[in-house]
Amino acid sequence: MVRIENSKLTVVGAGSVGVAVAYAALIRGSARTIALYDIDEPKVTAEVLDLAHGTWLSGSSQVIGGADPSVAAGSHVVVVTAGAKQKPGQTRLDLASTNFEILQTLMPTLLEHAPHAVYCIVTNPCDVLTVAAQRISGLPASRVVSSGTVLDTARLRWLVAERAQVSPASVHADIVAEHGDTGFALWSQARIGSTPVLDWQAPDGHRFTPRELDEITQSVRDAAYRVIEGKGATNLAIGLAGARVVEAILEDQHDVLPVSTVLDGFRGLHGVALSVPSVVGAAGVLHVPDLTMTDAEADLFHASADALLATQRTLGI
Ligand code: LAC
Repeated sequence: MVRIENSKLTVVGAGSVGVAVAYAALIRGSARTIALYDIDEPKVTAEVLDLAHGTWLSGSSQVIGGADPSVAAGSHVVVVTAGAKQKPGQTRLDLASTNFEILQTLMPTLLEHAPHAVYCIVTNPCDVLTVAAQRISGLPASRVVSSGTVLDTARLRWLVAERAQVSPASVHADIVAEHGDTGFALWSQARIGSTPVLDWQAPDGHRFTPRELDEITQSVRDAAYRVIEGKGATNLAIGLAGARVVEAILEDQHDVLPVSTVLDGFRGLHGVALSVPSVVGAAGVLHVPDLTMTDAEADLFHASADALLATQRTLGI
């Protein structure tokens, strides 16, 4: 593993999600320098100070930032979190028009200062905005990724682990396609340890049924809405998901993560971004392998693509 020397992460947006990404990266030591950029100067200055005050107690990162986009200069990874967030009951796709407009001015500004970075889109709808960011920037698709269903997959693995009475680290199951209401669990490939999930028997005797797997998938889809109802926004788990993608890039890990990139022929799809477990390293997404899916899962994947393409058409992308 060749860690990028003097690695620099810039997080764009000092809202609750951006600060959570920066905080997670600080604690995990994801980057040598963490920069936070936001147009709201008092806010970003305060968040940078609050993070920097903890640097003795956390990893070896330096924290900088401000309201001038030049703080992003020399970044290896830029995580974009700026934009409107879901209100209770609002879908991620409902945010498309507002956040697309923000991206249209933001991307050229960022590229001016960080032309060689890998861009990670977290702002929702992250899959649609990944297509937008790639189009606006003209960067190769491999360098414009989205956290995609990394967070959904984390939710899935937690839900399964609780029932299976194992650590989430031993649950090998992914949510694929949209980071949103049409994303779905690839149950046909799901394992606990080396045991197919439907063959697993927990220490207390619990066994999974197809009905329970459907319920778990729906719980993943409902997760953000539940958190938003209670605290107004999600930020902590998405912060960790963003930091995880950043590490795979800055440490050139060649890890397989369910990130979203603009597909170029995957299952016959072009010009749409959906999450597929992909190899992630210093240059971004290095490889998008084919997925073994049942016919029903393949239908769900294409239905998800159709839903995203419909939103993209409203934006003219
Ligand atoms: C969520 C937001 C990040 O799923 O879309 O929590």
